[in-house]
Amino acid sequence: MRRLILALCALWCFASQPLMAEAPRLVRKDGRHALMVDGAPYLVLGFQANNSSNYPAALPKVWHMAKDLSANTVLIPVAWEQVEPAEGRFDFAWVDTLLAGARENDQRLVLLWFASWKNHSPNYAPEWVKRDDGRFPRAIDAKGRRLNSLSPVHAASMAADRKAFVALMAHLKKADPQHTVIMMQVENESGLVGSDRDYSPTAEALFKGQVPAALVRGLGKKPGTWQEVFGAAAGETFQAWHMARYIEGVASAGRAAYDLPLYVNCWLRDAFKPGAPGSYPSGGPTDHMLDLYKIAAPSIDFAGPDYYQGSNAKFMRVIEQYGRADNALFIPEIGRQANYARYFFPALGGGAIGFSPFGLDYTKYKGAFEGAKGVEPLLGPAEVEPFARNYRLFAPMARTWPKIAFEHRVWGVAEPDEGGAPQQALSLGKRWRALVSYGRAEYGDAPPKGNPVPAGGVVLAELGPDEFLVTGYDARIDFLPAVEPGAQPYDEARKGYYYARVEEGHFDADGRWVMERVWNGDQTDWGLNFKSAAQLLRVRLAMHD
Ligand code: DGJ
Repeated sequence: MRRLILALCALWCFASQPLMAEAPRLVRKDGRHALMVDGAPYLVLGFQANNSSNYPAALPKVWHMAKDLSANTVLIPVAWEQVEPAEGRFDFAWVDTLLAGARENDQRLVLLWFASWKNHSPNYAPEWVKRDDGRFPRAIDAKGRRLNSLSPVHAASMAADRKAFVALMAHLKKADPQHTVIMMQVENESGLVGSDRDYSPTAEALFKGQVPAALVRGLGKKPGTWQEVFGAAAGETFQAWHMARYIEGVASAGRAAYDLPLYVNCWLRDAFKPGAPGSYPSGGPTDHMLDLYKIAAPSIDFAGPDYYQGSNAKFMRVIEQYGRADNALFIPEIGRQANYARYFFPALGGGAIGFSPFGLDYTKYKGAFEGAKGVEPLLGPAEVEPFARNYRLFAPMARTWPKIAFEHRVWGVAEPDEGGAPQQALSLGKRWRALVSYGRAEYGDAPPKGNPVPAGGVVLAELGPDEFLVTGYDARIDFLPAVEPGAQPYDEARKGYYYARVEEGHFDADGRWVMERVWNGDQTDWGLNFKSAAQLLRVRLAMHD
């Protein structure tokens, strides 16, 4: 009897515990990436809260935004100053409030570890760190001026940051068996502003020494001093190595405590006119330092670009730079003005595992955002609509799309904004190409005028031979045989090929396609026209031999 009672007690205890779900992880196959959450691919339809919205009083304004956006994930800081207000005294009460709120509001979390570097500064480090420049020295520029950035060459700073990060990860391991937290960002836009490197005496001594063998070997260089190996780029490369090694120290220890996917975000150089290191944070995971970061910080899964540069051509360049076989594409921050919403489509076309506009909550913080002239920063539900409509379209397939993108080829484009014709040609392999054009009526052949504000975008996935999944907004897509010379749309090109079938539909919860209706006649005679309705098409093309 006693045994039976004990067994029943054990069963009751087990049943009342949240089930241990499979931990989130990143997987890679044939150069493609997927973020696995609860054992299946997951697309982050995210947004990032404002920097100071991570306190219980502000959180309702964050959850409210999550609902208006149809988001599934919130990116939100955990500041070192919040969790270790006095050295060695940890307080995770706020983290627990955040976890509970996220679960109540059906959101996953990506936590941003604001610690040694937050946009290059130690502003989010606890006061006991900021005030102790002797123990936690700031970097010094070539003229001997102290900069407001921790130097990465001091072991004490890294050890203190690491201890706090490990405590946070250990707490999450205990407090989050449901895996509400799916990824961690380590630091925020690390780097040094105002100098290419630290010129303090400690840094000087290291700079005069040899480049570490692992870096020389990894980059395929000949051994030598920093100056000898890297010439004009020596200062920045030195800074990047030490920042990346510091970050690795924090990340690897955190990961040993609790193994979650980890990434770093980047304050980018201008995609076309990079400027000098120090005008952007020197030593951060900028495009030209990615190879170094892979060598120096293997515990970091990927570096993600924070995109605020407006131009479509620059965004496409950034996607190429950060979407690599060894670097999953994830957009941790992007401008919140309406004209940035369309970049969701090329991001997905670049294989992105997630997308996250910055500063979207209802604390009404306006910020000084750069963007298209005359485009106001977003403040209310009506203004978040350009992002919300993307998430409404993808929320029902937040599990299916990333599975497709992990296994098939995908492409995406956004309406151009650098002059020229408002259309783009896309090569879809050996048999097909597509012409995407913007600002056209749904009926007729009038040339594209472009939308009043660049708003269009489409994304495609190849489901099988001659079969594509297509969706988008404010754009027309025409499929053309790849063999046609030039992008000659319509009658001439159409002689040789046709739509075998165009279905509008959706994927059910198990990822099965559910056909709702067939598009034909006016709906296909003038290309496939996406306006503001959320429409997902499965297109079968055919070609006369
Ligand atoms: C990029 C940073 O990573 C964010 O935390 C924020 O400061 C934005 N810039 C601008 O508001």
